[in-house]
Amino acid sequence: MSFKNSLEAELPEEYHEISQTLQSADLILSNAVDNAKTLFHTLAVSSIDNNQVATRIMVLREFNLKERYLRFHTDYRAAKIDHYKNNNSASVLGYDPKLKIQIKFQGTISVHYQDYLTRAAWEGSSTRSKKCYSVKGGSTLKISDPKEYDLKDGNIEDGYMNFAVLKFSFDRLEFLHLKSSGHRRALHSWKKGLESTWLVP
Ligand SMILES: Cc1cc2nc3c(=O)[nH]c(=O)nc-3n(C[C@H](O)[C@H](O)[C@H](O)COP(=O)(O)O)c2cc1C
Repeated sequence: MSFKNSLEAELPEEYHEISQTLQSADLILSNAVDNAKTLFHTLAVSSIDNNQVATRIMVLREFNLKERYLRFHTDYRAAKIDHYKNNNSASVLGYDPKLKIQIKFQGTISVHYQDYLTRAAWEGSSTRSKKCYSVKGGSTLKISDPKEYDLKDGNIEDGYMNFAVLKFSFDRLEFLHLKSSGHRRALHSWKKGLESTWLVP
């Protein structure tokens, strides 16, 4: 059985109780960590660079609803590391047309470098993923010949010094299910505890 079929079978056809939308979000994002076939595996992560919104696609590495965070990996040499340090406000967005579901998060990003989190994440990474961090120069450097920056075989463990974990902690999760018989949009937010409300779609 494929990931997609088993996931779709677990999702409700229609949403009657608001709690079902949070349960579905949990199922979809937990599944997306290892399921490269769902578009929720690659999410749009937006943050602020000098008063301008900057968005990029990132691979979802972990989803934890109980502790309300998503984990992403990136290159510590990337310019966005400083952007997150200057302004940690961020939004994460995903949509899968097969599921007809959009999920949007609001929260903050913390950068981890050479700590317990990066060590565990590095050890859990595949050789293929690790290899990306050995590229010379680092992300976003202006170059004249991209071929010179193709990944080469070498000691992939050296890439750890360029490896960073982005922990995105969220306090708002918005769920939108598109269905011709009636769209359903739910907002879950956490202040003291969880507050959930339907919104006009
Ligand atoms: C399918 C896909 C997956 C990607 N995954 C990541 C990722 O996990 N981490 C990352 O830093 N960049 C990832 N990227 C590259 C970013 O989208 C972006 O191009 C890169 O990080 C440089 O963007 P910046 O200038 O915003 O730093 C991915 C791109 C694509 C198309």
